[in-house]
Amino acid sequence: MTFFMSETTGKKPGPEFNSEFRTMLEELFRWRRDVRHFQTTPIDPKLLNNLISIAALAPSVGHSQPWRFVKVETEKSRALIRANFERANAEALAGYTEERAQLYATLKLHGLDEAPVHLAVFQDTKSHLGDGLGAKTMPETLTYSVVGAINILWLAARSHGIGLGWVSILDPDAAKDDLGIPKHWKLIGYLCIGYPKEDQDMPELHRTGWQKRLEISNFIIER
Ligand SMILES: Cc1cc2nc3c(=O)[nH]c(=O)nc-3n(C[C@H](O)[C@H](O)[C@H](O)COP(=O)(O)O)c2cc1C
Repeated sequence: MTFFMSETTGKKPGPEFNSEFRTMLEELFRWRRDVRHFQTTPIDPKLLNNLISIAALAPSVGHSQPWRFVKVETEKSRALIRANFERANAEALAGYTEERAQLYATLKLHGLDEAPVHLAVFQDTKSHLGDGLGAKTMPETLTYSVVGAINILWLAARSHGIGLGWVSILDPDAAKDDLGIPKHWKLIGYLCIGYPKEDQDMPELHRTGWQKRLEISNFIIER
């Protein structure tokens, strides 16, 4: 990465990203995975804090910074979330029939038991930061902002060889009770974080035959 002094202002502008960096960045995107198989090796708490602070560089509507990160550390809290998952997953399974139900039952859909870090990410629906700018007609943009932060966290973690698995098979209101979270916070993602057992360049749901990755041409239209 190189920095060039601006000839006119003499001030240091931003970095210039070269093609080697772009190639590596694309590799990072290609090798980011939703991870459900973790090693139990702990994550350095300083590194975790660093990853969270990088996540908070995400754009947010009105600069509202609506993300709230909850480190779920006690055995009791984790057990409550695990039980929450079991209930939600049994309900999800009951919604499928025949081969689909059989396949669903074989899927590993969380790494709650092995992941050294559990991070619950919430949106504060009542934060006054940003004074509502940009969110009046589309309050859901606050949610989008938190999702953007999680995506940055996901990629930043992967750049350190750390995997992240997003668990959404949960009753979000019960999860708030499980963790003693204020009513006006909304659960956006429950994240398992740790070193993966293996690296993969294809989604697990593709590999297990649940849902293939389709050609991008299927999702682009013209008007
Ligand atoms: C909002 C969101 C919720 C998800 N919830 C779950 C989940 O509960 N369990 C699971 O195994 N994977 C979950 N995933 C991971 C997806 O299944 C995964 O992203 C998708 O299969 C593509 O795989 P990849 O992330 O490895 O590319 C979730 C992903 C997102 C973005």
